[in-house]
Amino acid sequence: MDLLEKRQTYLFPTKQPYYQEPIELVKAQGSRVWDSSGKEYLDAIGGIVTNSVGHNHPRIKAKIKEMLERDVPQHSTFLYLSKYMEDLGEKLSQLAPGGLNQCYFTNSGSEANEMAVMSARVATGEQTMIALRHGYHGGTNVPLSLCGNSQWKFPAQPQASVVHAVEPYCYRCPYGAQKGFCALECAEDIQNVIETATHGKVAGLIVEPVLGVGGFIDPPLEYHRRAAEIVRNVGGKYLSDEVQTGVGRTGKFFFAIEESEVVPDIITMAKGFGGGAPIGAVVAKKEIAMSLKGKTHFNTFGGDPYQSMQAGEVIDIIKDEELIENAHREGKYLKEGFQSLSEEFPVLGDVRGRGLMIGIELVKDPKTKEPAAKETAEIMDLSKERGLLLGKGGLKGNVIRIAPSLSIRREESEELLKIMKSSLQALRDRSMKK
Ligand SMILES: Cc1ncc(COP(=O)(O)O)c(C=O)c1O
Repeated sequence: MDLLEKRQTYLFPTKQPYYQEPIELVKAQGSRVWDSSGKEYLDAIGGIVTNSVGHNHPRIKAKIKEMLERDVPQHSTFLYLSKYMEDLGEKLSQLAPGGLNQCYFTNSGSEANEMAVMSARVATGEQTMIALRHGYHGGTNVPLSLCGNSQWKFPAQPQASVVHAVEPYCYRCPYGAQKGFCALECAEDIQNVIETATHGKVAGLIVEPVLGVGGFIDPPLEYHRRAAEIVRNVGGKYLSDEVQTGVGRTGKFFFAIEESEVVPDIITMAKGFGGGAPIGAVVAKKEIAMSLKGKTHFNTFGGDPYQSMQAGEVIDIIKDEELIENAHREGKYLKEGFQSLSEEFPVLGDVRGRGLMIGIELVKDPKTKEPAAKETAEIMDLSKERGLLLGKGGLKGNVIRIAPSLSIRREESEELLKIMKSSLQALRDRSMKK
């Protein structure tokens, strides 16, 4: 039985691999990966937005080896003191903006959001959370009820105490407005939702600074300011889900929300935070964390020595190698490159995003903006053949997501654009033959 057959026979059908002919990745280094046939790829989706400092960074490899040599326990819960967890807590608290200094470590982004929402609910004594349509916050119970995309939700999923506000999606503005010429009606919808779908008070609002799974939807910075103001006016907390946007991916600050000058009440992170290690975190204001005092919240693996070491090392590498600056520089270069490709290939309807989080929305016709999901899948396969791995997203599956390692080098960015151009040409040739 080959791997695909085994996957289809023994694993849940929810685990669908990318590509018509899925590949097995057996080796990874920096921004590059190799499949089991030895074929090399540029990894432009960085694992799945997890590769922050480059696959198998030598500093992380050396630390893992050194810890194994010393027989450091592979696992020790928070029931014992741990240099690795405590040091990471200190590091993260010092990094987080404006007084967020209480940390909680988890194994994933979903769990971090579970904890963040529970904390907001306990701290406010309110249950209702506001989330955004097109948003995604993880695959466990509360995050799935926050989710704003039917493809990811299940018929039996309870929508417990969650209401949704409209998406801040400038390319497809729900109000028909033009980017930069609007009254932020999407933010005002949060007020509308509070007044019509709640009893007038909420526990909080959870927002991704750039909506990841939603297709790298990048709301105007003022959106976050107004959204925070509205939710705080009724005593709610502002939760910034930085599972995808965190650790400098958007090329300006360690947390993307800092660019909007909003200090959230709680920030969650995972994915690139561990640079491949399964670790997530919540960092919150002290009064929020203190509202949980007196209860135990158990988590067997959160803050394990190896994971905590790796997240701490990721933070140091990002600083030492100036990777936020690199994300800004390479992100700008790539975005401009895609923008000029969009002039040549009208199938590229919108190029958006910040830093190394670039979304390219494919449309059948730039005037009608009809989503081009089939063409997006074709570009994925054509690029794979040419040695480039891309990500996909968006409600209609028609957005290519570019989120390589923050350490991507200029020659790799050039290669990325070159392969994209060649794939777009091949797509055009195919459609002309039909
Ligand atoms: C913004 C966001 N939040 C939370 C999650 C959930 O993280 P995890 O898959 O580690 O549970 C994801 C995963 O894609 C995400 O994109």
